[in-house]
Amino acid sequence: MPDPLDTTPSAPTPAASAPAASAAPSTSKAFAPDVPFETPGYFLRGAANLDWGLKNRLARIFQPRSGRTVMLAFDHGYIMGPTTGLERIDLTIAPLIDAVDVLMCTRGILRTCIPPTCTKPVALRVSAGATILRELSREHIGVEIEDAIRLDAAAMAVQVYVGGEYEHATLANLTQTIDAGLRYGIPTLGVTAVGREMARDARYLGLACRVIAELGAHYVKTYYCEPDFEQVTAACPVPIVIAGGKKLPELDALKMCYKAVQQGAAGVDMGRNIFQAENPLAMVAAVNTVVHDLTPPADAYAAYQEACFEASKS
Ligand code: 5RP
Repeated sequence: MPDPLDTTPSAPTPAASAPAASAAPSTSKAFAPDVPFETPGYFLRGAANLDWGLKNRLARIFQPRSGRTVMLAFDHGYIMGPTTGLERIDLTIAPLIDAVDVLMCTRGILRTCIPPTCTKPVALRVSAGATILRELSREHIGVEIEDAIRLDAAAMAVQVYVGGEYEHATLANLTQTIDAGLRYGIPTLGVTAVGREMARDARYLGLACRVIAELGAHYVKTYYCEPDFEQVTAACPVPIVIAGGKKLPELDALKMCYKAVQQGAAGVDMGRNIFQAENPLAMVAAVNTVVHDLTPPADAYAAYQEACFEASKS
């Protein structure tokens, strides 16, 4: 079965038929990626005018010292079942908890596999209703706001399929969640889910991220792309975190993280490139130094290899 999260287009010219292709072109100068986005009075892009509860939760998600985050995504099972590395979350994810900034998961996994002594902020997956066996964009909101509060969610995550078959419904899911979260001070993470018919390029991702931000999401998850990722981040008035996507060689994954943060991403929300790594704990450490300290990927990879070597001796 093809990997449903591997959304690399299979058709030769998908962009030509995708709605994003009709978006008006802009010059790179108009994006002014080198001009910092002002964030008066608060460290995080787009959050200066939010209420205390929202700011407090965002400050648990994004480290104030770097303005960035390393989120561990392990919500894949809500559409894919027990995918590689997530067969036993109690065994594979639990050892990583202390090393990441945020956990991103479903309520089912949170209640069954994550100890309630865990104090890490949780980005709770609240959209639901599809699996890899059916149309993925046909989602609804599957978690009531009361349950997100009960679980002390630091954010709620909603899948948005811009240009997808159920685009309208997924945008409605997003706005419904944002409204509910605003009543209680819980931020919303809008996730750009890229349908197979869409090109994963800067024009499409820029459109999707901007739509999600305009509708009021407090931060956005998307994919890194080349070229012009800095235009995606520049035109999005809230922080962007990148998904890792399908498993890459560890050095390539670290290079992608580095380029993304250099080009304006506020961190990562990474799954397979961590929990499918040869040594997930060492990979988290490497990703952390790249994201928070801007360690060059070659140096982070050398430390990763050293950790793998040490682990092999024990
Ligand atoms: C599902 C998600 C996943 O959490 C995320 O995209 C997966 O992360 P990765 O691509 O790094 O494995 O949002 O749509």
